[in-house]
This record gives sequence, C-alpha cells and structure tokens, in this order.
Amino acid sequence: MLKFTFLGHACFSMETEGGETLLFDPFITGNPQASVSAEELSANYILISHAHMDHLGDAYDIAARNDAVIISSSEIAVAAQERGADAHGLHIGGSHRFPFGTVKLTLALHGSGIPGGHACGFLVGCDGKTVYFAGDTGLFGDMRLIGELHRPDLALLPIGDNYTMGPDDAVVATRFLKARQVIPYHYNTWPLIEVDPLLFKEKVEQQTEADCIILQPGESYTL
Ligand code: NI
Ligand code: MN
Repeated sequence: MLKFTFLGHACFSMETEGGETLLFDPFITGNPQASVSAEELSANYILISHAHMDHLGDAYDIAARNDAVIISSSEIAVAAQERGADAHGLHIGGSHRFPFGTVKLTLALHGSGIPGGHACGFLVGCDGKTVYFAGDTGLFGDMRLIGELHRPDLALLPIGDNYTMGPDDAVVATRFLKARQVIPYHYNTWPLIEVDPLLFKEKVEQQTEADCIILQPGESYTL
C-alpha cells in the first residue's frame, strides 16, 4: 500500500509499506494551498521535477533537517550537492533502484529552471505499484510509450493550463498513459491556473478507463 497526501500545488508525500516517505516537489512556504508548514514535514527522499520555485520550494531545508536524499536530474542534483545536500542525479530514460523501489526519469516538456538542465517526470515503482508523477509538462505523444511499457496504477498530472497541460490535454494524457487512476494537481493555486477539477473528473471518467480522485490539500489517498 502506498499512501499519498496532497500538500497543495504540485506537492505530494508518498508513504511506503516499509515506512519510508517520499516527497514530490515540496513547495510549501509561500504556497497559498499549503496545508502544513515546511517544518512539520519529514521525508527520506525528495523528488524534484525541475527547479522552478513552485517545485524546488523548501527542498533544501527539508532535506537538511531530515537527512533526506534529493533525487532529480543531474544538474539539479549537482546544485543540491553544492548546497550541502545529499543528492542522487539521474537523467531522462535512466532508472535506479533505491531501497524503497525504483525511480525512472521521464521526459517533461517544460523549462528546467536551471542552466543546461531539463525538466523531468518520475516513474516510481514501489510495493508492487507503478506511479507516474508528470512534473510540469505539456501533453506529449510519448506518454503513449509510458502507457505501453509501464501502465501506471496511478498518474499524478498537472491540469492548470497556462504553464502546463490544461484539463482537456490531461484527459488525453490519461488515455495515452492507460492509467488506472489519476489525481490532478497544479491548479487553483493562483487565479492564472484556475480550472474546475470536477469537470476534469467528469471527462476522465467519460472518455478514459481511469478513475479520477480529487484531493483537497491535506487529504490522502491510499493506493
Ligand atoms: Ni514549472
Ligand atoms: Mn509549476
């Protein structure tokens, strides 16, 4: 079992059966949706999709306080190491087995937020489940490949438009990914990315095989 808690914007925690906690894109301080303070968060691993501040967020502070390992693309991992953090760099297409499971870096069509870098997404294999966290991205056709090769049990997808996929493209993404379940994020944090998640849920459930779970900040879902 994997317990996901939505912490607002693009931040999720994932607790494993083995008692390890992974944090994705921990932007908490300054996040209008945040349901906790950064000081309350603990983690063993922090996965960073790219270095825009609404994703890198409090990663360095949380990592330092918890002796957590930052997992990201090489450029961001090196920047984290230069700040004294323990970090593991991978790059797109590469995977690595960690004590909790495997992480594979995927393509994301988005800015990296760091010179020379790439934005990425993550495929996490853990406790017999496959989870896809898309990061910030537009729709891309190779999501079909992820669907064919990995068929995620759960896809976490941005739907807020303007900076990432909007809801209609995220419905197509859900179909390409052959995801069994989808949880949307990166919406309604600010007026520029206001969308109706219930409309997204309706379209997902009409047009794809997936169930859509909408989490309010602070709410959890167990996979
Ligand atoms: Ni971004
Ligand atoms: Mn973002």
